[in-house]
Amino acid sequence: MAIQTRPESSNDNLESPKTAQPYLEIRNLQTAFPGNEKPTIVVNDVSLSLARGETLAVVGESGSGKTMTFLSALGLLPKSGRVIGGEALLSGRDLLKLPPREMRALRGSEIAMVFQGPLSGLNPVFRIGEQIIEAIRAHRRISRRAARQEAIRLLERVHIPAASSRIDDYPHQLSGGMRQRALIAMAIALDPAVLIADEPTTALDVTVQAQILELLSDIQAETGMGMVLITHDLGLVARHADRVAVMYGGRVVEQGQLSDVFKRTRHPYTVSLFRSIPHLHTPADAELTPIDGQPPNPAELPPGCAFEARCYLGKGRRDCVSAIPPLAATDLNTHLTACHHWPELAGTGANG
Ligand SMILES: Nc1ncnc2c1ncn2[C@@H]1O[C@H](COP(=O)(O)OP(=O)(O)OP(=O)(O)O)[C@@H](O)[C@H]1O
Ligand SMILES: [Mg+2]
Repeated sequence: MAIQTRPESSNDNLESPKTAQPYLEIRNLQTAFPGNEKPTIVVNDVSLSLARGETLAVVGESGSGKTMTFLSALGLLPKSGRVIGGEALLSGRDLLKLPPREMRALRGSEIAMVFQGPLSGLNPVFRIGEQIIEAIRAHRRISRRAARQEAIRLLERVHIPAASSRIDDYPHQLSGGMRQRALIAMAIALDPAVLIADEPTTALDVTVQAQILELLSDIQAETGMGMVLITHDLGLVARHADRVAVMYGGRVVEQGQLSDVFKRTRHPYTVSLFRSIPHLHTPADAELTPIDGQPPNPAELPPGCAFEARCYLGKGRRDCVSAIPPLAATDLNTHLTACHHWPELAGTGANG
């Protein structure tokens, strides 16, 4: 795979102080929506952790449960959704057990989320400055005037030119890239320990995408903020992530350090995903191979591995058809896979 990854030194081992104490730790999370006969489980036994200053990329096809995992953790699920199991610890405190009022207080101040598109947090009828000022004043007792100064400083920090006049613009007066910067300014206004960035740059052009991710990396370097980057863009993952979690059918199917997941891939779904998506390092003449078939419907998951029907390694194999493979360590204990046959991937081609 011709993807250039970050240097190993930035993500070398579990003992580094960076990963010593997770800021955010999701354990065995399960989320369901009401179904016809039984509830439909859309997040299934998901465990993920994020350390100070670290970027965890979460990838996987549409519908794999990426967004629902973090909406669950933040108490932002759509009304009919329910967390039915697990924990979401933020510096040791279980967010799932907090009364709604305390959760609202934490959201924004300690853990913030940036969404793309229609879910985005900017209200079209208010000036962007007012929205940032409100976000600040909802959590801190400062005067409007001081909050306005703070908002200008934040807009400058996200490189919005002429911030002191732009602050009085309405969202539609800004370009897509500038709106996304304003959203990021709002998200980082209270210096959150953790930022969940859900497709933060999807609708933007490549140059603006790169600028926004650089900006987020700079903020991380300054503040030690941990970041979850949910994206379909493997080029962004390769450049910005320390670790990667791959989701399929509501579960994490592979998880590990960036270079391990990219270069020593241990799940056939990840292999297929990497072959199917174009990315910045894809050579112009490279052939992309779409993954056969459709992602599973979470209301009709098979008894075995959810990827079996599409899997070049396990299709029709007895254990794959009958037993769900647990997420477990591979040849490295920091590199996990949920595949009965992962050793067959070791040593093959680009996957090493
Ligand atoms: N309001 C809802 N009611 C019932 N099911 C839902 C609802 N919202 C989402 N789902 C289901 O939950 C599953 C996980 O969705 P989720 O939005 O987390 O996927 P995703 O991985 O973020 O996908 P994408 O890459 O398209 O954003 C999907 O099967 C989806 O159909
Ligand atoms: Mg999503």
